[in-house]
Amino acid sequence: MERKNHTSLKEFILWGLTDDPKLQIMFFAAGLFIYIVTLTGNLIIIILIKIDQHLHIPMYFLLSNLSCTEICYITTTMPKMLWDLLSETKSISFSGCFLQMYFFLTTAATEGALLTVMAYDRYAAICQPLRYTLLMSQPVCQWLVASSWAIGNLNAIINTAFVFSLNFCSSNKIVHFFCDIPPLLHLSCSDTSLTEMVTFIVSGSIMITTVSFIVLSYFFIVWAVLKIRTTQGQIKTFFTCASHLTVVSIFYSTAIFTYMRPSFSRSMEQDCLISLLYTIITPLLNPLIYSFKNKEMQAAFLNILGKKENCQLRKFLQ
Ligand SMILES: *[C@@H]1O[C@H](CO)[C@@H](O)[C@H](O)[C@H]1NC(C)=O
Repeated sequence: MERKNHTSLKEFILWGLTDDPKLQIMFFAAGLFIYIVTLTGNLIIIILIKIDQHLHIPMYFLLSNLSCTEICYITTTMPKMLWDLLSETKSISFSGCFLQMYFFLTTAATEGALLTVMAYDRYAAICQPLRYTLLMSQPVCQWLVASSWAIGNLNAIINTAFVFSLNFCSSNKIVHFFCDIPPLLHLSCSDTSLTEMVTFIVSGSIMITTVSFIVLSYFFIVWAVLKIRTTQGQIKTFFTCASHLTVVSIFYSTAIFTYMRPSFSRSMEQDCLISLLYTIITPLLNPLIYSFKNKEMQAAFLNILGKKENCQLRKFLQ
């Protein structure tokens, strides 16, 4: 009786990590906590940058854009995941799954592109200080941010279109907590080789391009830093990149591990755990990294808490 095309499946079941009710409650509590911390942290960054005049430079505008993207990014997966941990059915409609994948892939690739733009910004500030205001003028900056979103959307359009042109007929259980590419490929009853190749090429070329740009920027930055005479000067210059470099490393190591492994070496449960890190860790850690390592952000924060009392603290931090 089953018709062999995707219209025969009206919904998917997001099987998630576990069906143990106790563990589910624990995951729910942990997930809710992480979600709230992530939203709060990133919102504080956006608000600080909006309010504090010292932070009205391209580096912080980009950081603020990154925080915005991260809020969107974690919101594509987390609320639904939390809901499913408490609900009995754990179902997601076909179009819901499609939209979730679309928005997840858009925000993920946009984040990668923004991290690249931020690397370019550091390169321009450190290696081309005299031409910096020209290289990162407001229109250029806006254009770079818009392009990042364009790349994100392109990535999502191509990947989602290919994945959802596949047939889903027999099983509708996704061994995952959201609609990501690998578990859906695993579920499909069509020949997935073309889709697999396309997603590999599209995600792969975006990753290779962005990573090469970042590495190249840092190559020039390190080169420039080594030319500074004093060690103190070197440390100070490099410190402005430390937060960015940390976030970049976390984001790309998890992303490459998730998407760039050949399918025969995958296990769905393992993938599920790894992507949990991938979807949660960057948005959560980014604000923490930026606030721990960055003196200007700390100063701005103290500034808002109370201008006078914190004058000395501010001096101390600078
Ligand atoms: C994003 O970056 C652009 C370009 O610098 C800036 O004008 C805009 O205010 C930023 N958006 C946010 C939400 O910070």
